[in-house]
Amino acid sequence: MTVTRSVVIGTGSHLPARVVTNDELATRVETSDEWIVQRTGIKQRYIAAPEETTASLATEAARKAMAAAGVTADDIDLVVLATATPDNTFPATAVEVQARLGITRGAAFDMQAVCSGFIFAMTTADSMIRTGLARRALVIGAETFSRILDWSDRTTCVLFGDGAGAVVMEGRTGEGTNADRGVLTSHLRSDGRHKEKLYVDGGASSTGTVGHLRMEGREVFKFAVGAVTDVIEDAFLATGFDGDSIDWFVPHQANRRIIEGSAKKLGIDLAKVVITVDRHGNTSAASIPLAIDAAVADGRIREGDVVLLEAMGGGFTWGSVIVRW
Ligand code: ACO
Repeated sequence: MTVTRSVVIGTGSHLPARVVTNDELATRVETSDEWIVQRTGIKQRYIAAPEETTASLATEAARKAMAAAGVTADDIDLVVLATATPDNTFPATAVEVQARLGITRGAAFDMQAVCSGFIFAMTTADSMIRTGLARRALVIGAETFSRILDWSDRTTCVLFGDGAGAVVMEGRTGEGTNADRGVLTSHLRSDGRHKEKLYVDGGASSTGTVGHLRMEGREVFKFAVGAVTDVIEDAFLATGFDGDSIDWFVPHQANRRIIEGSAKKLGIDLAKVVITVDRHGNTSAASIPLAIDAAVADGRIREGDVVLLEAMGGGFTWGSVIVRW
């Protein structure tokens, strides 16, 4: 049986030039490199310059992904941009990126699922490609979390960073088996009962301000290692893959301890886990495409590899994708 599969044909990423080390943060709030590394694995993060925005980071990442895919603006008929830090309340940052890239065909819109945004965006693009609504999609995760951090709150400001990553996905014909290239399965979940554990205390309709990120760190940690693995178990059940038979695990990069805890629970060898949180910090929706691009660039992820993606974020939202590269 022939089916349409959404195949990743190019990846790209972009980081601001400015690196902020833990030692630099320790000059602003009462913290230390030792505390941050021990609790989170984060050693540094990139912070956007005043003239850099989510749209500008996203545009650079998208340009590189399109170049890697060998496509031009005319070839793209869908832009889905995952972000919780849009340039403006409206229009969507995706529209700004679309214009900067000279894309005039098809639809462009933002996806808001916080740190799970890229998984939700990829799944949306895949659904639209498989139903014939789009042929070639630019899927982007881009954030400037530095703009919503309370820089006097040491419990949150040390965790996050800015950046963007992108992939180009193209509809191709497959056989309907696990041997096909492309997205093989996706599983998305949300549970708004947890909305106050990780949120921003402002918004257009509530306060008329942008607000600052607030978090119950321990609650997030417990949920991230305890509950989130259900979407990976669902992905394994749907495909027959398991921790041994996948080639790479690219989780959302929030915290090294969360990543290691999840891998252990799922029986995934740490050697197969792509980790960038030490360099990037938590870049929310950008973290997975940034990590993917790093692993593609250094030759780890290659055509034919089975790659498991997983994320969890505010809401809570969480999800998984298995894609054969
Ligand atoms: N530097 C030094 N001390 C700190 C810092 C800091 N940056 N932040 C907190 N502390 C102190 C606290 O004030 C507290 O001191 P006290 O005992 O005197 O009250 C002590 O360290 C312990 O604080 P806890 O919050 O209990 O520390 P915990 O071990 O839980 O670690 C952390 C905190 C790292 C935030 C952890 O809870 C965590 O990783 N949670 C997950 C959160 C996360 O990754 N969120 C990302 C967004 S969600 C997502 O992307 C999925």
